[in-house]
Amino acid sequence: MLRIAITGSSGLVGSRIVELLQSEFEFIKLAHADLDLTKKISVRENLKNLDYDMLLHLAGYTKVNEAEKEKELAYALNVEGTRNLFEATRERDKKLIYISTDFVFDGIRGENRPPYFEDSEPNPLGYYALTKYEGEKVLNGQAMIVRISYPYRANYSEKKDFIRSIRSRLEMGKTLKMVTDALITPTFIDDVAFALRYLFNNYSPEIFHIVGSNSLSPFAAAKLIANTFYLNESLIFPKTFQEYSLGKAKRSQYSEIKSKKNNFYKMIGLEEGLREIKKQI
Ligand SMILES: NC(=O)c1ccc[n+]([C@@H]2O[C@H](COP(=O)([O-])OP(=O)(O)OC[C@H]3O[C@@H](n4cnc5c(N)ncnc54)[C@H](OP(=O)(O)O)[C@@H]3O)[C@@H](O)[C@H]2O)c1
Repeated sequence: MLRIAITGSSGLVGSRIVELLQSEFEFIKLAHADLDLTKKISVRENLKNLDYDMLLHLAGYTKVNEAEKEKELAYALNVEGTRNLFEATRERDKKLIYISTDFVFDGIRGENRPPYFEDSEPNPLGYYALTKYEGEKVLNGQAMIVRISYPYRANYSEKKDFIRSIRSRLEMGKTLKMVTDALITPTFIDDVAFALRYLFNNYSPEIFHIVGSNSLSPFAAAKLIANTFYLNESLIFPKTFQEYSLGKAKRSQYSEIKSKKNNFYKMIGLEEGLREIKKQI
């Protein structure tokens, strides 16, 4: 059985990956409480004698708006933390998979873009996005990068993904304004896990986009959520991207992200993903 050391295993994405794949792989959890990834020497010491085949690095500073103020924290974890792990794995010739984000792209409409493919040129806008891209660059083409986008799942009490945020607002009978002139590419986390199963077994130090099969506006996504869960869609009102962006970190407007390389696992789109989470809840 492949032994996979994993960071961020308590997080939204990591905990589901472990749940779904733990019967097929042996996960060795590098929990934050035991190892702070920003501490270079501790990381090196911890990984020096660890018996593992591959490291899956999901831990990150993930608060997009707060990152604009907590720059040092975001940089320390997303860039230096990634560097610490990269160096520790290189020392022992171990494989590394770094989970990154569609936010590395600017989402500005131009010639031939979006959509963004694995070989599209990143141009991060906000500070979180910048640190994730700097984290990618640290790896210098010598590790695998898996970019995911708007991940969602059925159950996770610690943190709400965008679907649960919308659902709970509608369930409370509250109105919400959703952006019409932007695109997001929601990704079912279960699909990320199953695509990773393939990548664990077929590792190569390349970039992969593991993302949902369709992109839509947040407004359209909210309507789909309301319809799927029989909630009142008349509570959803339109707003512009410009309105939404006031006072927030800069982010990608048209985040239509696709893959040229994922011919190994069929990702589902939001409509099917919502039906799936409804079954799982
Ligand atoms: N969520 C999204 O919308 C999204 C979209 C695209 C890409 N991604 C990427 O996917 C990955 C996983 O995201 P997520 O949403 O699952 O993250 P998350 O729920 O915010 O969890 C972050 C994880 O990082 C750990 N961590 C934080 N600081 C640490 C430190 N100093 N040392 C060691 N571990 C530390 C946390 O442990 P504790 O809880 O114990 O502190 C937690 O397990 C991230 O790399 C993120 O950039 C996320």
